[in-house]
Amino acid sequence: MSETKAFQPDPQYLVQVRGLKEYFPISTGFTQTTMLKAVDDVSFDIKKGETLGLVGESGCGKTTVGRTMLHLYKPTAGEIWFGGKKIEKGPVMTEFRKKAQLVFQDPYSSLNPRMTVGDIIAEPIDVHKLCANKKERSERIQALLTMVGLSSEHATRYAHEFSGGQRQRIGIARALASNPAFIVCDEPVSALDVSIQAQVLNMLEDLQKQLGLTYLFIAHDLSVVKHISDRIAVMYLGRMVELASSNELHHNPLHPYTISLLSAIPAPDPDKAKQQKRIVLKGDIPSPLHAPSGCPFRTRCSRCTAICAQVNPEFLEVSPKHFVACHNL
Ligand SMILES: Nc1ncnc2c1ncn2[C@@H]1O[C@H](COP(=O)(O)OP(=O)(O)OP(=O)(O)O)[C@@H](O)[C@H]1O
Ligand SMILES: [Mg+2]
Repeated sequence: MSETKAFQPDPQYLVQVRGLKEYFPISTGFTQTTMLKAVDDVSFDIKKGETLGLVGESGCGKTTVGRTMLHLYKPTAGEIWFGGKKIEKGPVMTEFRKKAQLVFQDPYSSLNPRMTVGDIIAEPIDVHKLCANKKERSERIQALLTMVGLSSEHATRYAHEFSGGQRQRIGIARALASNPAFIVCDEPVSALDVSIQAQVLNMLEDLQKQLGLTYLFIAHDLSVVKHISDRIAVMYLGRMVELASSNELHHNPLHPYTISLLSAIPAPDPDKAKQQKRIVLKGDIPSPLHAPSGCPFRTRCSRCTAICAQVNPEFLEVSPKHFVACHNL
């Protein structure tokens, strides 16, 4: 009888995800349901203090990866390891819920309009009973407001009184309240005015240095994650297609999808921008309910050959720390 080798966590990583799947049952008729494979067999690691960027088109499964790895959705399959421990029910899960937090994409809908800013920020403190008394709780709220560049009198006001950038600061303060080690930042600036985006990004970077935080940083756009990420993972239709250091991915992209995403970023130098050729992909992203056979990208890929319709390419390390899933490199 063959025995599958048990996963051994590697101490250099804070977060390790293996074979993560999240399938949503979708009703497709009276009695029929089809599985929507929002995330299909995704594996990656994040070192302590590192930022892993996660990019891809709308609907490719980025938010679902973030939420499933935080156990906000129950994984259909796969394992999440955090600080060398497998995340399962019981005390390990309770500790994980404190140590791993989420900053939401939309600072307008993610803050309860009926609660004061202080109560919103203190939610994790109250849930995990982290403060012994009211005074300690109030001091912690003040400290968190200062940490995100807001002032102490903001605690008694309501979220609707604030601008988008300030609301996102409130959302970040809430995520920091339980003293986390890891934060999933789900497109934290995409709903904000361009002029405010850099401020919030800089603040997230400063907080990371100050508090030794580890980030999974989700974005649509490679240009947003380029500066903030140490490494970048590219997703397409529920799968990871490429993963490399930010520098390597920008200078030596290997997957045709990554190459097309990079070609969409305008070059800062006008002479280079003139020479730059944008690679426009044919067709639309297929529905994850009807994903193509074999390689999910093949219907839009200029390199597609017969094998691509038959075999889903493995996610392989083609050079040190550079992973790609493509038959035709
Ligand atoms: N709770 C759910 N029930 C059913 N389907 C879902 C659910 N959440 C997400 N999906 C579907 O799963 C797929 C992946 O969605 P997800 O929100 O993770 O994508 P995304 O990459 O974050 O997109 P965006 O960039 O627009 O935020 C989509 O097809 C979406 O419609
Ligand atoms: Mg999303």
